Amino acid sequence: MNPSRDRLRIAVQKSGRLSEASLDLLRRAGLSFRASRDKLFLYGENLPVDVLLVRDDDIPGLLLEGSCELGMVGRNVLDEQRLAGAGAVSPQVCTALGFGQCRLAIAMPAELPWDGPASLAGRRIATSYPGLLGQWLREHGIEAEVVVLNGSVEIAPRLGKAEAVCDLVSTGATLAANQLREVETVLESVAVLAQSPRPLPPALAGIGDSLVARIRGVLGGDGARLLMLRAPRSALAEIARLLPAREAPSVLRLDDAPDQVALQALCGRSLDWQHLEALKRLGAHGLMVLNVEQVLA
Ligand code: PRP
Ligand code: ZN
Repeated sequence: MNPSRDRLRIAVQKSGRLSEASLDLLRRAGLSFRASRDKLFLYGENLPVDVLLVRDDDIPGLLLEGSCELGMVGRNVLDEQRLAGAGAVSPQVCTALGFGQCRLAIAMPAELPWDGPASLAGRRIATSYPGLLGQWLREHGIEAEVVVLNGSVEIAPRLGKAEAVCDLVSTGATLAANQLREVETVLESVAVLAQSPRPLPPALAGIGDSLVARIRGVLGGDGARLLMLRAPRSALAEIARLLPAREAPSVLRLDDAPDQVALQALCGRSLDWQHLEALKRLGAHGLMVLNVEQVLA
């Protein structure tokens, strides 16, 4: 780690399922960046934050050695690193990111017989996740050969390298394209924001806190709605009871109508027409619902 570094680094998958959503989230957190000539690096123009574009499997290692302070990565990749790495330290998960839902699953060519996990006994299973697969096999008491591949796992059966695969499945398109049938789920996963286990250098701590807060703010705003209305002061208690609000509403006095109030409430995505109609029945008027772009708690 370079102690004189004064720009925070966040690692993001270079090309794959998480790439687009990760960069989109950073943009929504207010970061604008321009690509380096070699496309390995995005230089943050309005914050001292740079984005490293890397293989997702490399992200835990970069966090562990302190080459990056933050990373957006599948929880499956962190879990695998934890099982494979002998050391006690692991990257910390700051927050789930709300995208990258997938599962680590075992799949086989459709023509091979499947009669439960025991059908894997004595088979060769190709995977990039030997730690997670090994654990699953032990839990199920199955002896099988784990063939470790770093990419293109799905073509291993056609190449004669294995009879089964254990790989990530999102839409299932990759398995279908390779005529593989999913038979067992080993692990469910989502993308998370992870942090280096090393203490951040002082110059970077503030930047890191503010970036994490912004990312949480974007995620917290997802689906949130701001409800604004006017209502008789006497109906306030009943209105508050009815609202799917995330926190107590703000109530404002109206100078020209002392028996009326203006109310603002941050609501979840469940706020719907039924709520609005019920509020009207309680005497509310001038109702307005706005989608919330971001929230800074
Ligand atoms: C995973 C996996 C498959 C693909 C499955 O790759 O290895 O290639 O996603 O998605 P699908 O079910 O929607 O077809 P990932 O993006 O994680 O990249 P990597 O395997 O190269 O790390
Ligand atoms: Zn990967």
